[in-house]
Amino acid sequence: NEIKIFCPATIANLSCGFDVLGLCLETAGDEMIIRKSDIKGIRITKIVGADLPLETEKNVAGVSALAMLEAIETEFGFEIEIYKHIKAGSGIGSSAASSAGAVFGINELLGRPFTRKELVQFAMQGEKLASGNAHADNVAPALLGGFTLVRSSNPLDIIKIESPSELYATVVHPQIELKTSDARSVLKQTVSLKSAIIQWGNVGGLIAGLYTKDYDLIGRSLHDEIVEPLRSVLIPGFDLIKKTALENGALGSGISGSGPSIFALSKGKETADKIANAMSSVYDAMNLPYEIHVSKVN
Ligand code: HSE
Repeated sequence: NEIKIFCPATIANLSCGFDVLGLCLETAGDEMIIRKSDIKGIRITKIVGADLPLETEKNVAGVSALAMLEAIETEFGFEIEIYKHIKAGSGIGSSAASSAGAVFGINELLGRPFTRKELVQFAMQGEKLASGNAHADNVAPALLGGFTLVRSSNPLDIIKIESPSELYATVVHPQIELKTSDARSVLKQTVSLKSAIIQWGNVGGLIAGLYTKDYDLIGRSLHDEIVEPLRSVLIPGFDLIKKTALENGALGSGISGSGPSIFALSKGKETADKIANAMSSVYDAMNLPYEIHVSKVN
Protein backbone atom coordinates (compact mmCIF):
# COMPACT_ATOMS: atom_id res chain seq x y z
CA ASN A 1 0.00 0.00 0.00
CA GLU A 2 3.06 2.19 0.04
CA ILE A 3 5.99 2.55 -2.33
CA LYS A 4 9.30 4.38 -2.04
CA ILE A 5 10.85 5.34 -5.35
CA PHE A 6 13.95 6.98 -6.80
CA CYS A 7 13.08 9.71 -9.31
CA PRO A 8 16.09 10.15 -11.62
CA ALA A 9 17.51 13.38 -12.98
CA THR A 10 17.74 13.59 -16.77
CA ILE A 11 19.66 15.43 -19.48
CA ALA A 12 17.42 16.71 -22.25
CA ASN A 13 18.35 17.84 -25.77
CA LEU A 14 21.90 16.40 -25.84
CA SER A 15 23.11 19.21 -28.10
CA CYS A 16 21.55 18.38 -31.46
CA GLY A 17 18.22 16.96 -30.21
CA PHE A 18 16.32 19.97 -28.88
CA ASP A 19 13.00 18.79 -27.40
CA VAL A 20 13.45 15.25 -28.77
CA LEU A 21 16.46 13.55 -27.14
CA GLY A 22 17.06 12.79 -23.48
CA LEU A 23 18.93 10.45 -21.18
CA CYS A 24 18.48 9.19 -17.65
CA LEU A 25 21.10 9.72 -14.93
CA GLU A 26 21.40 6.72 -12.64
CA THR A 27 22.95 8.41 -9.65
CA ALA A 28 21.27 11.80 -9.32
CA GLY A 29 17.63 12.21 -8.37
CA ASP A 30 14.86 12.72 -5.82
CA GLU A 31 12.93 10.31 -3.66
CA MET A 32 9.22 9.96 -3.26
CA ILE A 33 6.92 7.95 -1.01
CA ILE A 34 3.43 7.29 -2.32
CA ARG A 35 0.71 5.55 -0.33
CA LYS A 36 -2.87 4.56 -0.96
CA SER A 37 -5.48 6.52 0.97
CA ASP A 38 -9.19 5.99 1.67
CA ILE A 39 -9.76 9.58 0.60
CA LYS A 40 -10.15 9.79 -3.18
CA GLY A 41 -7.97 12.15 -5.19
CA ILE A 42 -4.35 13.22 -4.76
CA ARG A 43 -2.82 14.92 -1.74
CA ILE A 44 0.75 16.16 -1.47
CA THR A 45 1.40 15.67 2.22
CA LYS A 46 5.07 16.57 2.55
CA ILE A 47 7.83 18.27 0.55
CA VAL A 48 11.37 18.25 1.92
CA GLY A 49 14.32 20.05 0.30
CA ALA A 50 12.47 22.63 -1.78
CA ASP A 51 9.95 25.41 -1.40
CA LEU A 52 7.21 24.06 -3.67
CA PRO A 53 3.41 24.28 -3.46
CA LEU A 54 1.55 21.56 -1.56
CA GLU A 55 -1.68 22.32 -3.45
CA THR A 56 -2.26 19.43 -5.82
CA GLU A 57 -3.25 21.59 -8.81
CA LYS A 58 -0.15 23.77 -8.44
CA ASN A 59 2.33 20.94 -7.97
CA VAL A 60 3.80 19.12 -11.00
CA ALA A 61 3.54 15.73 -9.27
CA GLY A 62 -0.05 16.50 -8.31
CA VAL A 63 -1.07 17.61 -11.79
CA SER A 64 0.53 14.57 -13.42
CA ALA A 65 -1.16 12.23 -10.94
CA LEU A 66 -4.54 13.91 -11.51
CA ALA A 67 -4.14 13.49 -15.29
CA MET A 68 -3.55 9.78 -14.70
CA LEU A 69 -6.56 9.37 -12.39
CA GLU A 70 -8.75 10.94 -15.06
CA ALA A 71 -7.87 8.01 -17.30
CA ILE A 72 -8.62 5.23 -14.80
CA GLU A 73 -11.32 4.52 -12.18
CA THR A 74 -10.02 3.95 -8.64
CA GLU A 75 -11.81 3.34 -5.36
CA PHE A 76 -9.15 5.15 -3.37
CA GLY A 77 -6.75 8.08 -3.52
CA PHE A 78 -3.05 8.67 -2.99
CA GLU A 79 -0.79 10.63 -0.67
CA ILE A 80 2.56 11.79 -2.00
CA GLU A 81 5.68 12.75 -0.02
CA ILE A 82 8.44 14.38 -2.07
CA TYR A 83 12.10 14.52 -1.02
CA LYS A 84 13.81 16.89 -3.47
CA HIS A 85 17.52 16.72 -4.17
CA ILE A 86 17.43 18.13 -7.72
CA LYS A 87 17.18 21.89 -7.58
CA ALA A 88 14.49 23.70 -9.57
CA GLY A 89 15.86 25.52 -12.59
CA SER A 90 19.02 23.38 -12.71
CA GLY A 91 18.56 21.93 -16.20
CA ILE A 92 18.59 18.30 -15.10
CA GLY A 93 14.87 17.72 -15.07
CA SER A 94 13.73 18.63 -11.57
CA SER A 95 10.07 18.97 -12.51
CA ALA A 96 10.28 15.88 -14.73
CA ALA A 97 11.60 13.77 -11.85
CA SER A 98 8.57 14.69 -9.73
CA SER A 99 6.08 14.32 -12.59
CA ALA A 100 7.48 10.97 -13.71
CA GLY A 101 7.89 9.72 -10.13
CA ALA A 102 4.26 10.40 -9.23
CA VAL A 103 2.76 8.54 -12.19
CA PHE A 104 5.29 5.70 -11.98
CA GLY A 105 4.59 5.14 -8.27
CA ILE A 106 0.81 5.29 -8.59
CA ASN A 107 0.93 2.92 -11.56
CA GLU A 108 2.88 0.41 -9.44
CA LEU A 109 0.36 0.68 -6.58
CA LEU A 110 -2.48 0.11 -9.06
CA GLY A 111 -0.87 -3.08 -10.40
CA ARG A 112 0.57 -1.50 -13.55
CA PRO A 113 -2.50 -0.76 -15.68
CA PHE A 114 -0.31 1.46 -17.92
CA THR A 115 2.96 0.74 -19.73
CA ARG A 116 5.86 3.05 -19.00
CA LYS A 117 5.43 4.63 -22.43
CA GLU A 118 1.77 5.30 -21.68
CA LEU A 119 2.76 7.06 -18.47
CA VAL A 120 4.71 9.69 -20.45
CA GLN A 121 1.53 11.50 -21.57
CA PHE A 122 0.43 12.01 -17.93
CA ALA A 123 3.85 13.17 -16.73
CA MET A 124 3.95 15.69 -19.60
CA GLN A 125 1.11 17.57 -17.87
CA GLY A 126 3.53 18.34 -15.02
CA GLU A 127 6.02 19.72 -17.55
CA LYS A 128 3.30 21.88 -19.01
CA LEU A 129 2.60 23.36 -15.59
CA ALA A 130 6.32 23.91 -14.92
CA SER A 131 7.36 25.52 -18.19
CA GLY A 132 4.21 26.25 -20.18
CA ASN A 133 5.22 23.59 -22.67
CA ALA A 134 4.36 19.88 -22.46
CA HIS A 135 7.75 18.64 -23.68
CA ALA A 136 8.52 14.95 -23.12
CA ASP A 137 12.31 14.92 -23.51
CA ASN A 138 12.92 14.75 -19.73
CA VAL A 139 9.94 12.66 -18.58
CA ALA A 140 10.49 9.99 -21.26
CA PRO A 141 14.05 9.06 -20.14
CA ALA A 142 13.02 9.40 -16.46
CA LEU A 143 10.32 6.76 -17.04
CA LEU A 144 12.07 4.49 -19.54
CA GLY A 145 15.72 4.81 -18.48
CA GLY A 146 18.72 5.17 -20.80
CA PHE A 147 18.45 7.24 -23.98
CA THR A 148 15.08 8.16 -25.46
CA LEU A 149 13.83 9.86 -28.60
CA VAL A 150 10.53 11.69 -28.84
CA ARG A 151 9.93 11.04 -32.53
CA SER A 152 6.64 12.88 -32.33
CA SER A 153 4.76 14.54 -29.50
CA ASN A 154 1.40 14.63 -31.28
CA PRO A 155 0.57 11.80 -31.58
CA LEU A 156 3.07 10.78 -28.92
CA ASP A 157 5.72 8.38 -30.26
CA ILE A 158 8.55 7.60 -27.82
CA ILE A 159 11.44 5.34 -28.79
CA LYS A 160 14.02 3.89 -26.42
CA ILE A 161 17.46 4.10 -28.01
CA GLU A 162 20.15 1.49 -27.43
CA SER A 163 23.41 2.95 -26.11
CA PRO A 164 26.85 1.53 -25.43
CA SER A 165 27.43 0.20 -21.91
CA GLU A 166 30.55 2.25 -21.26
CA LEU A 167 28.88 5.62 -21.85
CA TYR A 168 29.10 8.02 -18.89
CA ALA A 169 27.77 11.50 -18.29
CA THR A 170 29.36 14.26 -16.22
CA VAL A 171 27.02 17.12 -15.31
CA VAL A 172 28.01 20.29 -13.54
CA HIS A 173 25.39 22.65 -12.13
CA PRO A 174 26.61 26.19 -11.47
CA GLN A 175 24.41 27.29 -8.59
CA ILE A 176 22.23 29.76 -10.38
CA GLU A 177 18.61 29.17 -11.30
CA LEU A 178 17.57 29.42 -14.93
CA LYS A 179 13.87 29.01 -15.60
CA THR A 180 13.05 26.85 -18.62
CA SER A 181 10.46 29.43 -19.70
CA ASP A 182 13.15 32.15 -19.69
CA ALA A 183 15.64 29.92 -21.54
CA ARG A 184 12.94 29.24 -24.13
CA SER A 185 12.11 32.90 -24.57
CA VAL A 186 15.58 33.62 -26.05
CA LEU A 187 15.02 31.13 -28.89
CA LYS A 188 14.05 32.11 -32.41
CA GLN A 189 10.89 30.59 -33.86
CA THR A 190 12.46 29.89 -37.26
CA VAL A 191 15.71 28.25 -38.37
CA SER A 192 17.51 28.52 -41.65
CA LEU A 193 17.60 25.53 -43.99
CA LYS A 194 21.39 25.54 -43.73
CA SER A 195 21.26 25.18 -39.92
CA ALA A 196 18.48 22.59 -40.11
CA ILE A 197 20.55 20.42 -42.46
CA ILE A 198 23.52 20.47 -40.08
CA GLN A 199 21.25 19.71 -37.11
CA TRP A 200 19.40 16.71 -38.58
CA GLY A 201 22.66 15.33 -39.92
CA ASN A 202 23.92 15.31 -36.35
CA VAL A 203 20.73 13.83 -34.86
CA GLY A 204 20.96 10.95 -37.33
CA GLY A 205 24.69 10.60 -36.64
CA LEU A 206 24.18 10.50 -32.88
CA ILE A 207 21.49 7.81 -33.08
CA ALA A 208 23.61 5.76 -35.50
CA GLY A 209 26.65 6.17 -33.23
CA LEU A 210 24.71 5.02 -30.17
CA TYR A 211 23.41 1.88 -31.92
CA THR A 212 26.74 0.93 -33.47
CA LYS A 213 28.78 1.85 -30.35
CA ASP A 214 30.84 4.20 -32.50
CA TYR A 215 32.15 6.62 -29.88
CA ASP A 216 33.86 8.88 -32.45
CA LEU A 217 30.61 9.26 -34.36
CA ILE A 218 28.78 10.02 -31.09
CA GLY A 219 31.37 12.73 -30.39
CA ARG A 220 31.22 14.25 -33.88
CA SER A 221 27.45 14.41 -33.68
CA LEU A 222 27.23 16.15 -30.27
CA HIS A 223 26.97 19.58 -31.82
CA ASP A 224 24.16 22.13 -31.59
CA GLU A 225 23.83 24.58 -34.42
CA ILE A 226 20.56 26.15 -33.32
CA VAL A 227 19.95 26.46 -29.57
CA GLU A 228 23.35 26.49 -27.84
CA PRO A 229 24.60 29.72 -29.45
CA LEU A 230 21.53 31.56 -28.09
CA ARG A 231 21.42 30.01 -24.63
CA SER A 232 25.09 29.60 -23.73
CA VAL A 233 25.45 33.32 -23.03
CA LEU A 234 23.09 32.83 -20.05
CA ILE A 235 25.50 30.35 -18.43
CA PRO A 236 28.57 31.55 -16.50
CA GLY A 237 31.80 30.02 -17.80
CA PHE A 238 30.06 27.93 -20.46
CA ASP A 239 32.75 28.18 -23.17
CA LEU A 240 35.58 27.42 -20.74
CA ILE A 241 33.77 24.46 -19.13
CA LYS A 242 32.99 22.97 -22.54
CA LYS A 243 36.56 23.48 -23.77
CA THR A 244 37.93 21.94 -20.56
CA ALA A 245 35.66 18.90 -20.93
CA LEU A 246 36.79 18.33 -24.51
CA GLU A 247 40.48 18.77 -23.59
CA ASN A 248 40.04 16.14 -20.90
CA GLY A 249 38.67 13.49 -23.21
CA ALA A 250 34.94 14.20 -23.47
CA LEU A 251 33.26 12.88 -26.62
CA GLY A 252 31.15 16.03 -26.61
CA SER A 253 29.76 18.66 -24.27
CA GLY A 254 26.83 21.06 -24.24
CA ILE A 255 23.96 22.56 -22.26
CA SER A 256 21.94 20.10 -20.20
CA GLY A 257 18.27 20.73 -20.99
CA SER A 258 17.58 24.43 -20.76
CA GLY A 259 20.62 24.98 -18.52
CA PRO A 260 22.45 26.23 -16.57
CA SER A 261 23.86 22.71 -16.06
CA ILE A 262 26.49 21.65 -18.57
CA PHE A 263 27.00 18.01 -19.54
CA ALA A 264 29.82 16.03 -21.09
CA LEU A 265 29.59 12.46 -22.39
CA SER A 266 32.57 10.16 -22.27
CA LYS A 267 33.69 6.59 -22.72
CA GLY A 268 34.40 5.02 -19.34
CA LYS A 269 34.11 6.20 -15.75
CA GLU A 270 37.76 7.19 -15.45
CA THR A 271 37.42 9.84 -18.16
CA ALA A 272 34.08 11.02 -16.73
CA ASP A 273 35.73 11.48 -13.29
CA LYS A 274 38.68 13.28 -14.84
CA ILE A 275 36.29 15.66 -16.59
CA ALA A 276 34.44 16.23 -13.30
CA ASN A 277 37.72 17.25 -11.62
CA ALA A 278 38.67 19.54 -14.48
CA MET A 279 35.21 21.20 -14.53
CA SER A 280 35.41 21.65 -10.74
CA SER A 281 38.76 23.43 -11.09
CA VAL A 282 37.23 25.90 -13.56
CA TYR A 283 34.37 26.87 -11.24
CA ASP A 284 36.67 26.82 -8.18
CA ALA A 285 38.91 29.34 -9.94
CA MET A 286 35.86 31.48 -10.73
CA ASN A 287 34.70 31.23 -7.09
CA LEU A 288 31.36 29.97 -8.31
CA PRO A 289 29.54 27.35 -6.23
CA TYR A 290 28.49 24.25 -8.16
CA GLU A 291 27.28 20.68 -7.82
CA ILE A 292 28.72 17.92 -9.95
CA HIS A 293 27.47 14.42 -10.84
CA VAL A 294 29.06 11.53 -12.69
CA SER A 295 26.64 8.87 -13.82
CA LYS A 296 26.51 5.82 -16.02
CA VAL A 297 24.02 6.37 -18.83
CA ASN A 298 22.63 2.90 -19.22
N1 HSE B 1 13.83 20.62 -24.27
C1 HSE B 1 13.57 21.51 -23.16
C2 HSE B 1 14.27 22.82 -23.39
C3 HSE B 1 14.08 20.85 -21.92
O1 HSE B 1 15.44 22.80 -23.75
O2 HSE B 1 13.64 23.86 -23.23
C4 HSE B 1 13.86 21.63 -20.67
O3 HSE B 1 14.49 20.95 -19.60
